[in-house]
Amino acid sequence: MFQKDLISIHDLTGADVATLFTLAAGMKARPRDFRSALSGKILAMIFEKSSTRTRVSFEAGMTQLGGAAQFLSSRDIQIGRGEPIADTARVLSRYVDGIMARTFAHDTVLELARHATIPVINGLTDLLHPCQALTDYFTMSEKFGKLTGFKLAYVGDGNNMAHSLMYGGPKCGVDVAVATPKGYEPDATVTANAHADATAAGTTLLVTHSKEEAVRGAHVIYTDVWASMGQEAEQQKRVRDFAGWTVTSELLALAHPDAVFMHCLPAHRGEEVAAEVCDGPRSVIFDEAENRLHVQKAILATLMDRP
Ligand code: CP
Ligand code: NVA
Repeated sequence: MFQKDLISIHDLTGADVATLFTLAAGMKARPRDFRSALSGKILAMIFEKSSTRTRVSFEAGMTQLGGAAQFLSSRDIQIGRGEPIADTARVLSRYVDGIMARTFAHDTVLELARHATIPVINGLTDLLHPCQALTDYFTMSEKFGKLTGFKLAYVGDGNNMAHSLMYGGPKCGVDVAVATPKGYEPDATVTANAHADATAAGTTLLVTHSKEEAVRGAHVIYTDVWASMGQEAEQQKRVRDFAGWTVTSELLALAHPDAVFMHCLPAHRGEEVAAEVCDGPRSVIFDEAENRLHVQKAILATLMDRP
């Protein structure tokens, strides 16, 4: 059973994820049946960082479910002038029915969840991006018909996307391989937790410095930007450190013959992915982007349609 909040896929069970995907598929197939699922409910959306997909898909999703969403830039609300996160959580809990937050520090989302009496959804932190990773596994299930026994390879920076994909694999029955350059490995705690989750679920997790090893036989090749939001000052150094780590057609050729390419977007063509791959026949990047809407509507209805 889903907890009050969605902070990390690590907190979910495999059954939670399966139930969510069934609901998301129903909402995608029959959106009109869910037009009043969240009638009269309001979602507050706090953003410390930029967003296209998360902002628009959550707002559109709330409207499609019969509710409404409020965009709150951290620059404009009192958080930006030092009002405590705890007070913000308690105040918003008196007005609205849910909070979605995109923050730098992961602790900010945890603090919001601790003090809010309403559900809090993680819309990306420096550590995790659960809504995106859930959507990616949902998209993978659409492409391949099932997930158990399939393999996802992530190539690039050991960042928030890598972490949430590592957490998602065991909950979906997917083997995960993560390849990074030296010095850009995923977080040690996340890696240890994901290894334990994989062992419990009977899936595998490989963390390596060999992108060829990671990609071999994989059904999904996934990458993300080399410099995430908040790391702009490191951009030039990272471009140097990631030389040779572009996902190319040659790398894709090592994967399973039916493999698809995924990217959470925004993408930097010519850096983490070659344009021919990003815009090529195996790319499903815009299906992923669309599915953010359907999966998040399922998350919203699951968390906010409770007595
Ligand atoms: N993938 C993703 O979260 O995109 P935005 O940064 O545009 O929300
Ligand atoms: N790793 C990227 C993901 C953007 C959706 C970032 O945090 O900027």
